[in-house]
Amino acid sequence: MRSSVSLFFTVLLLALISVPPRAPAQIPAGGQSPQSVSAQGNAGADAQAAAQAVIAAHQPLSAAQQQDVAPVQTPAEIQAAAKARAEAQAQAASKAPQAAAPVALTPPMGWNSWNHFAGNVTDKDIRAAADQLVATGMKDAGYIYVNIDDTWEGERDASGALHPNAKFPDMKALADYVHSKGLKIGIYSSPGPKTCGGYEGSLGHEEQDAKMYAAWGIDYLKYDLCSFIDNVMEKQAPNDKAAQMQLMIAAYDKMNKALKATGRPIVFSFCQYGWDAVWEWGPSVGANLWRTTGDVTADWDRIYSIVTQQAGLASYAGPGHWNDPDMLEVGNGKLTLVENRSHFSWWAMLAAPLLAGNDLPNMKPEIKAILTNRDVIAVDQDPMGKQGVRAYSEGEVEIWARRLSGGALVLGIFDVGDSRYSTHPFHLKLSKLGLAATQTGKNLWTGNAVELTENEPLNLVSHDVVLVRIDAPAVLSQ
Ligand code: GAL
Repeated sequence: MRSSVSLFFTVLLLALISVPPRAPAQIPAGGQSPQSVSAQGNAGADAQAAAQAVIAAHQPLSAAQQQDVAPVQTPAEIQAAAKARAEAQAQAASKAPQAAAPVALTPPMGWNSWNHFAGNVTDKDIRAAADQLVATGMKDAGYIYVNIDDTWEGERDASGALHPNAKFPDMKALADYVHSKGLKIGIYSSPGPKTCGGYEGSLGHEEQDAKMYAAWGIDYLKYDLCSFIDNVMEKQAPNDKAAQMQLMIAAYDKMNKALKATGRPIVFSFCQYGWDAVWEWGPSVGANLWRTTGDVTADWDRIYSIVTQQAGLASYAGPGHWNDPDMLEVGNGKLTLVENRSHFSWWAMLAAPLLAGNDLPNMKPEIKAILTNRDVIAVDQDPMGKQGVRAYSEGEVEIWARRLSGGALVLGIFDVGDSRYSTHPFHLKLSKLGLAATQTGKNLWTGNAVELTENEPLNLVSHDVVLVRIDAPAVLSQ
């Protein structure tokens, strides 16, 4: 029994620290994409053909080609003909549909209006959030997206065009403002007739809405299932879960195609609460991230319950497609300082999108310190995008591990117990992780260098975390 347990952890460690594939170069925080073009479907093939045509237009003609083209032309005529060809090709290239640049190569980072404002958010609040992301240094730490959640929608006019309601007088001007700060802007809708808040959804207007988002300059869409459930799934396929699932997949794919057709890089965020193992099919219909659970609240029990529901999902995450355990509640409600720290640490270990949802203009310094901790953000934004897992637990202490590019390992030691006497002191078993008895690393919350030793007693406070990055983990010899 013992040997099979130690074999299990050795295999686990080897999986955690085995030499990672070469990380893609230059992937910035915030899930911004490098300026490259990916071939996707026909649009990609067209873009590639156009690119080849442009390259070809700049190659000097060989002597044979010159003869084939016009053996009796003068050099000036040959030059003029080549110029005309190049111009025609360049014109064709500019008309060819361009595949949008890839997005969310690292988990998206930003701020979303729902957790703090819910239905009260206004244009003014979004502008203030953009200002605050810049002023607080959060933008520099990687928080790029400013996302308007539900309740911005007004009525559709006779042509079916949706207008924002009175809280958002001019969406294009708002998007321009957010962009002028070097940030990106997100919006919210539903595949159903109504959103969760009872506002106008996109059903039957997907292409029209996607074009409008692109015209406004929207960079991110959260698409929330809500009324699609009773208005379409349950109506069209009563009591047939499999058929309902197909209807849901088709609805997400419809908006996926509508967004792609705009040619604008738009992050596509699925919000259907993790139903029908969305992690298995979401990426094939365009999901850059998908909620894995119901809503988060600013409450330790809810956050911990969401964390436990992430078991088994790590392998589905990676560059361009992420598990989303919902937005951050750091700084909200009655979460204590240590709970805020654990919440943020878990989201980083889970390679989760980091969408703050707090009251930015009134953010306390200690909350800002958590949200802008570069070392912890670097764990979340690691370009390899390998999600961490709960490696083992003992009593009320859980040990999480995440492998980073370059061979580094991050350990998160969480005390999830309610009493300060639970599992106290906790003795860290590096051997259970397949690690040698002494490891040197950095405590990412204190910034101090640390040495971890086998069986070391750790005095953990209830709901707190010790997060250690080990750049060169020493493996237990066989
Ligand atoms: C919920 C969603 C929340 C928020 C809300 C808005 O379904 O999970 O994150 O978007 O709708 O009405």
